[in-house]
Amino acid sequence: MPLLEVIGMSHYFGGLRAVSNYNLSLESGQIAGLIGPNGAGKTTIFNLITGIYQPAEGEVRLNGTNVVGKRTNQIAALGIGRTFQEMRLWRHMTVLEHVKMARYSKLSYGLFGAFLDSPQRRKEEKKSTELAMEYMELFGVDQYADQLVVNLPYGAQRRVEMARALAMEPKVLLLDEPTVGMTPEEMVDMIMVVRKAHERFNLAIFLIEHRLRVVSELCQNVQTLVFGEVLVEGTPNEVQNHPKVIEAYIGDQEIDF
Ligand SMILES: Nc1ncnc2c1ncn2[C@@H]1O[C@H](COP(=O)(O)OP(=O)(O)O)[C@@H](O)[C@H]1O
Ligand SMILES: [Mg+2]
Repeated sequence: MPLLEVIGMSHYFGGLRAVSNYNLSLESGQIAGLIGPNGAGKTTIFNLITGIYQPAEGEVRLNGTNVVGKRTNQIAALGIGRTFQEMRLWRHMTVLEHVKMARYSKLSYGLFGAFLDSPQRRKEEKKSTELAMEYMELFGVDQYADQLVVNLPYGAQRRVEMARALAMEPKVLLLDEPTVGMTPEEMVDMIMVVRKAHERFNLAIFLIEHRLRVVSELCQNVQTLVFGEVLVEGTPNEVQNHPKVIEAYIGDQEIDF
């Protein structure tokens, strides 16, 4: 059974069919990619998988259980983590606070209990600080632990976002354009960091990317989405050289081969 499976998923915005009969099968530990021109429906697919939108048709199965209809926080707790195309960080919180915040959703005392004092709370608090430090080290942002996110370089901010997503201990991680706006050096760092996270946690990763180089380096399997439909699916090499894919990208200024 695949870890994450999407079956016949469609979604409409008014009259616009943004996603059409979409299917995905992701095994545990697999890295797959989703590419396609701007407006193809890639982010919408992530929003459907994570419960931000409800699909008009279809199912999203995690370990065989349909999660359609569950709330975003329930889906996150079940093991689907994500980052966003436009980073969503609390600019005036420290790096450590961010990563610990993600852990509160996993802890028995919850956010409210965090303000009460008890041996149990202190023990969990200590454990969550240690764990947060571990995630921050993994993503090379531990030296910024007590700094406000707003003061970090952009590449480091994106790694904080990854550390936060992983602190929730997902089984599947969805990355929406993790290298968008990065310098080539930051991009290379990000590729390394994704690889490290994948190895360390045996994560399944599904990533949206504009840069084919990132997809080629990370993914075993890639889908090309055009107007909400998968046009071509295969290895990065097969997809990159496919005439239909090249045609779909003509005129898209942002694509970066
Ligand atoms: N909340 C929304 N309301 C209406 N239309 C939307 C909404 N979100 C996305 N769309 C439209 O759906 C299409 C797919 O968008 P999106 O999934 O963001 O594309 P991508 O991530 O591939 O660039 C686009 O035409 C976009 O304008
Ligand atoms: Mg998008």
